[in-house]
Amino acid sequence: MKPTGPIPPYFEADADSQLLIGGVSAEELVADAGGTPLFVYDNNIVGAQIASLKAAMPDGLAIYYSVTANPYEPLLNFLGRYVDGFRVVSLGELNHLKRAGLAGIGMTFAGPGKGDDELERGISAGATISVESEGEAARAIRAGERAGIRPKLAVRVNPPFSIDSRGLTLGARPTPFGVDAERVPSLVEGLLDAGVDWRGLHIFAAAQCLDDSALIEAHKAIISCAGDICRSLDRPLPELNLGGGFDVPCFAGEQPIDIYRLANALHETVRNGPELLATTRLSLELGRWLVAECGVYLTRVLDRTESCGETFLTTDGGGHHLLGATGCLLERGRGNFPIAVANKFGTPAEEQVTVTGCLATPHDIFGDEVMLPPAEVGNLIAIFCAGAYGLSASPQGWESRPSAREMLV
Ligand SMILES: Cc1ncc(COP(=O)(O)O)c(C=O)c1O
Repeated sequence: MKPTGPIPPYFEADADSQLLIGGVSAEELVADAGGTPLFVYDNNIVGAQIASLKAAMPDGLAIYYSVTANPYEPLLNFLGRYVDGFRVVSLGELNHLKRAGLAGIGMTFAGPGKGDDELERGISAGATISVESEGEAARAIRAGERAGIRPKLAVRVNPPFSIDSRGLTLGARPTPFGVDAERVPSLVEGLLDAGVDWRGLHIFAAAQCLDDSALIEAHKAIISCAGDICRSLDRPLPELNLGGGFDVPCFAGEQPIDIYRLANALHETVRNGPELLATTRLSLELGRWLVAECGVYLTRVLDRTESCGETFLTTDGGGHHLLGATGCLLERGRGNFPIAVANKFGTPAEEQVTVTGCLATPHDIFGDEVMLPPAEVGNLIAIFCAGAYGLSASPQGWESRPSAREMLV
């Protein structure tokens, strides 16, 4: 038996042990959507995450949602009521926002590899462009001239430090993500001379991080680095984007981030921070933490087979929809995502099974030797923590199979 990640605390069963998502049974949701595989996103969970973050964090801290985590337009529309803006990395993401009815909302446009057309369309849409290099800054200025708009530009900094974290870290190494910190003051001087609307700095140091202490250290180091840059410039900083990178527990043994601990430390760091940052607007751009737990992927058991004494449940889903929860292409990462039989939710886990997807690769596994209530052909399997980097971050063209359905409840 191998362990599974913790099921987020928001889910319960009805009297018939049917998993409820947003108060509706998984089977009803599948019937409404027209079938499986189906991603269901519960807006109450997203709302609860945003509310707890806002309650904890310093007043005036702006919260941006990183569209890459989940660009489902009804979800973007819902988020638009609560966040201060969005972070996009492409014209496609910008168009998602437009189609979600959010054309006029605050936006930052970040990420390396922005084309001239993307820069011009981003500037025209009112986005703050987070420039990743001197060359991109020059192209953004020209794009502003073509559009007849004074561009709003921030500078992404490749910081001189790297955080000690199990997740992904950035900084203190060669990268196309941002300008090395020591070159930032002269780049900013150049931007100011060119007459752009300089919006500040963007420093992203950690991703997929569940370690409060590492995030606290990251925020301290980011604020100190921003202070050094402003001292060289001898001018205050309009905005400091602290990046994102808060993770949620998806694997056995993982614990959630303590948002209040993080917020208290940030309060403290800001209070004792550099004077030139006293009027700086702080922002966070979060994806995964805001939406991962709201999503449940529902997939139907197509077959139940025995082989060499082990039981396999083959489903109609797979890594082409939710790559991160399978071992597709990668080694089996950190283990099993939280998983359940949606028709027997909360009933005793009495048998060991391996739950696979339908792709013709032995790596397409959602639950590797997991304990579940006995499941039959036709039952629904629920995979949790499926709200971030799911459908849009999976190779949907693989085996030319249908896409998954999506719904917001
Ligand atoms: C610059 C930047 N900001 C924010 C994010 C969002 O990260 P997460 O979804 O882990 O919060 C990313 C993710 O790649 C990023 O590169």
